[in-house]
Amino acid sequence: MSGSLTPDLDPVEFRRVLGHFATGVVAITAIDPATGQPTGLAANSFTSVSLDPPLVAFCVAHTSTSWPRLRRAKRFCINILAEGQDEVCIALSRRGADKFADLAWHPSPSGEPVIPGAAGWIEASVDAEHRAGDHDIVVARVHALGAEDRLPLLFFRGMYGRLSA
Ligand SMILES: Cc1cc2nc3c(=O)[nH]c(=O)nc-3n(C[C@H](O)[C@H](O)[C@H](O)COP(=O)(O)O)c2cc1C
Repeated sequence: MSGSLTPDLDPVEFRRVLGHFATGVVAITAIDPATGQPTGLAANSFTSVSLDPPLVAFCVAHTSTSWPRLRRAKRFCINILAEGQDEVCIALSRRGADKFADLAWHPSPSGEPVIPGAAGWIEASVDAEHRAGDHDIVVARVHALGAEDRLPLLFFRGMYGRLSA
């Protein structure tokens, strides 16, 4: 069902209030099977869902031009960005650009791009997709994963931040 904002609900206010919820940021990457080139997007809607079976989820806007490329790859890599990786996030959120022009990567076990310096990587495939307003909730099954001892990149009220002790 297509929807619209409740008439008295201001979209700017919606964004402003929801921006008070601090999150991490992931870079979802894959090799587009149609071109053989790396593709990806930055997302802060990522969450862990289930241990058995191992599932995670994130939300993708219907306007995303990268998600259709990512989803036709059999598997993708969810990179948990580390503090100081603001530029990786900015590069992967730039619409239309060659997002990987200045980004280094190495292949995950199934060949998807792992971003060096990330705090963690999760190799996954689409398990289910649910329409939710102007986004899809993507539930993904985890196949392999790893983490480094690094602090996370944080996103809060439109700004990048880091944990302070
Ligand atoms: C911090 C941050 C978080 C983002 N989170 C999401 C998200 O959860 N879902 C989404 O669809 N786009 C998100 N975006 C936007 C995408 O990274 C990207 O800009 C968008 O998909 C447009 O690029 P595309 O057309 O290449 O997909 C986020 C951007 C930033 C900077």
